[in-house]
Amino acid sequence: MLEVSDLHVSYGNVEAVRGIGMTTSPGKVTLVLGANGAGKTTTLKAIAGLEKPHAGRVVLDGKDITGLAPHKIVRSGVALVPEGRRVFSPLSVGENLRMGAYVADRTKSAEMLERVHEMFPILSERAGSAAGLLSGGEQQMLAFGRALMSQPTVMLLDEPSMGLAPAIVDSILAKVRDMADSGIGILMVEQNAEAGLDVADDVVAVARGEVVYSGPAAEARDNASVLRAFLGEAALTGPGD
Ligand SMILES: Nc1ncnc2c1ncn2[C@@H]1O[C@H](COP(=O)(O)OP(=O)(O)O)[C@@H](O)[C@H]1O
Ligand SMILES: [Mg+2]
Repeated sequence: MLEVSDLHVSYGNVEAVRGIGMTTSPGKVTLVLGANGAGKTTTLKAIAGLEKPHAGRVVLDGKDITGLAPHKIVRSGVALVPEGRRVFSPLSVGENLRMGAYVADRTKSAEMLERVHEMFPILSERAGSAAGLLSGGEQQMLAFGRALMSQPTVMLLDEPSMGLAPAIVDSILAKVRDMADSGIGILMVEQNAEAGLDVADDVVAVARGEVVYSGPAAEARDNASVLRAFLGEAALTGPGD
């Protein structure tokens, strides 16, 4: 279980994250909603050790991992899939996946690769292709697969459907659900709120660096007007609408 509490992160003297808390546990998807600039990416980066929080705690299965070096956080079981996917375009799909295993337990890498190929058969079919030649949806699956190679218990997903054709969004989010169902806890930032709610267990809405709403996804779906009030009309309008 990942427990983030009272997190504060600043850029210079601007505080982008002001006391955010959220949790996720094995098998669950926590959806993080919020307008541009609300502090969602900063929160994920701080959890992953890429920004240093100046207050607050990140606790994984009872162990305080706040502010550890990024590779130590990966090794402890938290994998970030960054916004924009950032696959290594000139490298092959197989090489990208092997890079994801660099901090992992070597003895389990082959088994993990097999699981990734089962979950994303296209990555097996395209193993020798340059990652840059994949479609956007395939690159997102590669980014998921690369993160899975580090054998995470928690995954942090930053806008996985960004820039994808509306027809692909649901299939990518269905893969997020599959990863959770395999026992991973997921914190997912997603602008496409309607599609995100379909695969989420819980929702946290963030505005101006603070949590303004949190609750079960079913409740948020039934109270779309509540979320609209917190987030504005745009927050519940996906690219396909
Ligand atoms: N590297 C940075 N340097 C300075 N300010 C930043 C940096 N990254 C983000 N910010 C600012 O922090 C705030 C939160 O940004 P971000 O976490 O990226 O929001 P979101 O992901 O919710 O769109 C914004 O005001 C943004 O301009
Ligand atoms: Mg962001």
